[in-house]
Amino acid sequence: MRHRAHDHLRKPGRHHPRPRGFTLSAETTETSEVHEELRFRSPTLTAFQKSPLTARAMGRRLPRLVRKALGLAWHVDRRAVLALLACQLLSGAFEAFGLLATSSTITALITSGHMQDRLMDALPSICLLAGAAGTRALLAIAVSNISSRLAPRISREAELHMLDAAINAELAAYDHPGFNDKREAADRGADVAQDLLTESQDLMACLASLVAAAGVVTLLHPALLPLLLLATLPQGIASVKAARVHYQTSRALSADRRVLSHLRWHVTDKVFADQLRSGTMAGFLLGRYRSISDRIHTATDLAVHQGARYALAGAVAGGIASGLVWAALALLLGTGHMSLASAGTAVFALRSVGSSLRGMVSYGARLFRTGLYLDDWAEFIDEAGGHRMRRGTLAPPSPLAVRAESLTFCYPGSERPALHDVSLEVRRGEVLALVGENGSGKTTLSKLLAGLYLPTGGKVTWDGAGTGEFDPQALWRQTAVVPQDFARWPLSARDNITLGQAREGDGAVHEAAAHAGADEVVKELRSGLDTLLAREWFGGVELSGGQWQRIAIARAFYRPAGLLVMDEPTSALDARAEHRIFAGLRKVAQERAVVLVTHRLANVAVADRIVVLDHGRVIQRGTFAELVEAPGLFRELWALQADRGVPAAHEEAGRAVL
Ligand SMILES: Nc1ncnc2c1ncn2[C@@H]1O[C@H](COP(=O)(O)OP(=O)(O)OP(=O)(O)O)[C@@H](O)[C@H]1O
Ligand SMILES: [Mg+2]
Repeated sequence: MRHRAHDHLRKPGRHHPRPRGFTLSAETTETSEVHEELRFRSPTLTAFQKSPLTARAMGRRLPRLVRKALGLAWHVDRRAVLALLACQLLSGAFEAFGLLATSSTITALITSGHMQDRLMDALPSICLLAGAAGTRALLAIAVSNISSRLAPRISREAELHMLDAAINAELAAYDHPGFNDKREAADRGADVAQDLLTESQDLMACLASLVAAAGVVTLLHPALLPLLLLATLPQGIASVKAARVHYQTSRALSADRRVLSHLRWHVTDKVFADQLRSGTMAGFLLGRYRSISDRIHTATDLAVHQGARYALAGAVAGGIASGLVWAALALLLGTGHMSLASAGTAVFALRSVGSSLRGMVSYGARLFRTGLYLDDWAEFIDEAGGHRMRRGTLAPPSPLAVRAESLTFCYPGSERPALHDVSLEVRRGEVLALVGENGSGKTTLSKLLAGLYLPTGGKVTWDGAGTGEFDPQALWRQTAVVPQDFARWPLSARDNITLGQAREGDGAVHEAAAHAGADEVVKELRSGLDTLLAREWFGGVELSGGQWQRIAIARAFYRPAGLLVMDEPTSALDARAEHRIFAGLRKVAQERAVVLVTHRLANVAVADRIVVLDHGRVIQRGTFAELVEAPGLFRELWALQADRGVPAAHEEAGRAVL
């Protein structure tokens, strides 16, 4: 499965959110219970519904697709494309030569005279026949060689375009329903881009062979061509119809197949292996796998039977039509309108035209479908699925003040704003703490301050300019973030800290690591900073959750950025490591504006100011000393954290004695 090969890159961090590209569809049953089931929605399938596979649609689209394939290949290697086309033309020409040589061979063989003389007469045309067949075989090898080299490069090129588009999409795009579907479809489109060339190439080969054979047949007798077409048409139509049934079924089943592939991943991946066992979930998940598989088998069986019925009808009609052609040939032969040699050649040509037509239908149907996938890819790369970043060009220096002014933010597709009319400020040299219960909007707010999201109302400014006015890359060079779900990049420890943006020597890396407590982690590693931090099957070393978090903090400290955002930075750290981070935070803040999100309220004493959020609104603000005194949510949460609700052991014992 393609997406599984990249799981280590796609699913970083401790948490594993619902796989992207999947949506929960709610179906209301008769008893008005809502039954939600994992469903994959592919835009390709929608497109497929809009342009069903018909002979006419194929006729319209295939030439465009062949041009597109050649265009992509042209971009990668012009000489190879020219060589490919030349081979194709030559192959068609040699097919015609071969057929003409067949005619003269038969003529020589059936004339009266001694057998040896007849063979001698036929020798030149036999040599031509053999030469033409040999040359066509060589050309076929050359064509396969060129297209095998060219095709994967086309896919790599298409993948790079797709990656570029994804990188340049707004972060909010990922929360748009449909964006992830489009991205996955584009990924698949890039993957099959190589098939576009091989299928176009096969189609062209069939076309060349068809033209050659049809040309020869017309030369033999003009009446034969319409007859030949008549003979092959029923089978052609039957093949298109069978292909349509096949693709319609595959369309209907692709959603189920995607769910199966995801189930397989959940059942076999190491990340879930312990929970699958401890939760004794194997039977439940395998049962679900079986029921979806059964659905697929039933639909496939139906399609196979339907396809077989079309094939049968096509074969019967084709047989009758071939009988007609044979009768016509016999008539032409009997009435002296055609020589025996021409009739013999016509038989060969008839077979060639028939197989070429059948090939055209089957390759054409495949190309048609590949073309739909490629449309997804093209649509995605043009506009990054409609979410290409279009921001300003300013490059910010390290900010003196980052402000939210009447900030409102609504996640795409969500009716309730995650943030509502939030105003606050954090200045260089200050630590601002964001506090609030789960889902109150802390992470969302920190992402807006860092310019990762753009406001849907109000403003976020860096020294007076809105975050949308900056060049995003320049803005993020001034931003260091320790996210709640941080990435565990499959890179060396050094690259995990520098994020590939190393400065001279390792001095700064060691310094950042020491501030974050990651120095102790690096010291234990087998090759120090050079150690690959990846899963063992990539040859790397696996770190513990807290060790990873120290690396993630070191990464943020290393960046020479003016805004530092730390979202639950010490959630996995032991008491000693946590103490070290907060004890050093004031020093870190000297050169930066720091936004700190934490649930452990004892830690926010380090902050200059605290903002308390509730359901996306600011409900309290002040210093730690002010907030622990003032009645309100902060004091309530503070009291709850101090009170674990567990009576001390000696109190219990005392009560028992009484
Ligand atoms: N990607 C998303 N799409 C839609 N809604 C989201 C998304 N992320 C968060 N939300 C919603 O926005 C609200 C605020 O979420 P946010 O993650 O900012 O909360 P938080 O204060 O950081 O919570 P926690 O303490 O659990 O980390 C929540 O109601 C959440 O359901
Ligand atoms: Mg959060």
